[in-house]
Amino acid sequence: MTIATALEANGYQVDTASTTGEAIDRLGGSAYPIVISDIYIDERTGLDILEAAKRKDPRCAVILMTGRGTVETVMAATRGGAFDYIAKPFDLDVMLDAVARAEAARDNHEEEAEEEELPETRMIGSSPAMVDTYKKVSRVAPTTATVIIEGETGTGKELVARMIHSFSPRAAQPFVAVDCAAIPPTLLESELFGAVRGAFTGADRDRTGVFESANRGTVFLDEIGDIEPDFQVKLLRFLQEHEIRPVGAPRAKEVDVRVLAATNRDLQQLTDEGKFRLDLWYRLNVVRIVMPPLRDRRSDIPLLARYFVNKYNVRYDREVKLMDSGVKALQEYTWPGNVRQLQHVIERLMVLADRVDADSVDDALTAMESRERPVETLAEAEEDQIRRVLAATGGNKSKAAQILGIERKTLYRKLERMKV
Ligand SMILES: Nc1ncnc2c1ncn2[C@@H]1O[C@H](COP(=O)(O)OP(=O)(O)O)[C@@H](O)[C@H]1O
Ligand SMILES: [Mg+2]
Repeated sequence: MTIATALEANGYQVDTASTTGEAIDRLGGSAYPIVISDIYIDERTGLDILEAAKRKDPRCAVILMTGRGTVETVMAATRGGAFDYIAKPFDLDVMLDAVARAEAARDNHEEEAEEEELPETRMIGSSPAMVDTYKKVSRVAPTTATVIIEGETGTGKELVARMIHSFSPRAAQPFVAVDCAAIPPTLLESELFGAVRGAFTGADRDRTGVFESANRGTVFLDEIGDIEPDFQVKLLRFLQEHEIRPVGAPRAKEVDVRVLAATNRDLQQLTDEGKFRLDLWYRLNVVRIVMPPLRDRRSDIPLLARYFVNKYNVRYDREVKLMDSGVKALQEYTWPGNVRQLQHVIERLMVLADRVDADSVDDALTAMESRERPVETLAEAEEDQIRRVLAATGGNKSKAAQILGIERKTLYRKLERMKV
C-alpha cells in the first residue's frame, strides 16, 4: 500500500505529484493544509517543496521523510518550519499518526493576535485617560512648572516624569530621581541639599546634594507624601527661593532645578489630616497629573502586551507569540500592581512558554499569586486554622477544640489572646 492509498483509505483527499517541478507548480496554484514529501527526489529536494509550501501558506504542515537523514538536512527542515521529519523505512501508522497530529495542530491553531502599529513613544496606551495625560505632558514639558503626579504604584508616574524632562529644554541636562520613602528622614536633608565636612558624625568630606548635582536639570521626588513635617518646611523654602544651604554650610547658593514630584498616596487627604502642609501642597500642585489604574483602562492592555512581548522577544532573542486568548486573559485580570505587574508577568511567562495564550497566562498569574501571599508566622497560621474550624463548627467551641485536638480551656486561652 502506498502512502496515498493509506491516507485515502482513512478518509483524506490526496493529490500526488511525481516530480519536484510538478509539486512546486501545484503548491504555487493552491494552498494545501498538509504536504508530505521525500527529501531526495530529483535535481531539487523536499526542502524546495517545503519552501514553496510555506511561501504559499505559512500554516501549511510539511512532513518530510528520508532514508538518508543527516544533521544538516534535519536542521534545514527544522529551520524551514517542517512539521515533522520521518526516517525511512517507517510503518504506515507512523505516517498516519503524523498526519493526524498535523491536522489537530491546525485545528487548535488560533488566529495570532493582529500586530498593531506601535507608537514611537515609550509610553504605551491610547485610552482616553492616557491621551489626556499626553496632552498635559506636552503642555507642561516646555515650562518650568512644578508637577505633582499621583497614582497607584506601577501606573507609570516615573515614566511620565521622565517624559516631561525629555520633552523639555532641559532634556540634555541631568534627570535625578530620589525615592523619598527609601531614605531615612535624618539623611534626606543632606542627600538633597548636601553637607559640608564635619557637619555631622560620619560626614568626613563635603557632599554634593542632589539639587546641586542636578543643576539646570530636573529632580524627581518620588513618594513625596512620605516626608516628615520638618523636611516639608525646608522643601517649601527651597521651592520658593531656589536656594540650597548644605548642612553645616555658612551660606546658601542658588541652583536652577525643576522639581517634579509623585506620590501613591492621596495628598489632599493627607493635608486634610494635617500630615502634609497645605502650603507645600499648593506649591507642588501647579499642575496635577493623575495616572489611572490599569484596571480602569483595560483597552490599553492589548497594546501594552504587544509592546512587552516584542520587547522581551528582542531582549531574550525569542519568538514568543501573543495569542488572542492570551490578550483576553490578561485583559480580565485586575492588576493591583498595574503596568509594572503586567510587565513582570509577561517577562516571567515568556521565559518558559512559547505562546502567550490563556493557559500560560493563567499559569503565570497563579504562580505569581501564590508567591506573593504574605509569609505567615506560626502563630498567624494557628490563628487562621482556629478561625476556619470555628467557622466550620458554627462557633461551637467544644466541637472546635475536639477537631483541633486541644483541650477546651486551651482553646479559650488562645481565643482570649486572639481577642475574638
Ligand atoms: N504606559 C506605559 N507604557 C509602557 N510602559 C509603562 C507604562 N506605564 C508604566 N510602564 C512601565 O511600568 C514600570 C513601572 O512604571 P513606573 O513609572 O516606575 O511606575 P510608578 O512610578 O507609578 O510606580 C516601568 O518599567 C515602566 O517603564
Ligand atoms: Mg515609582
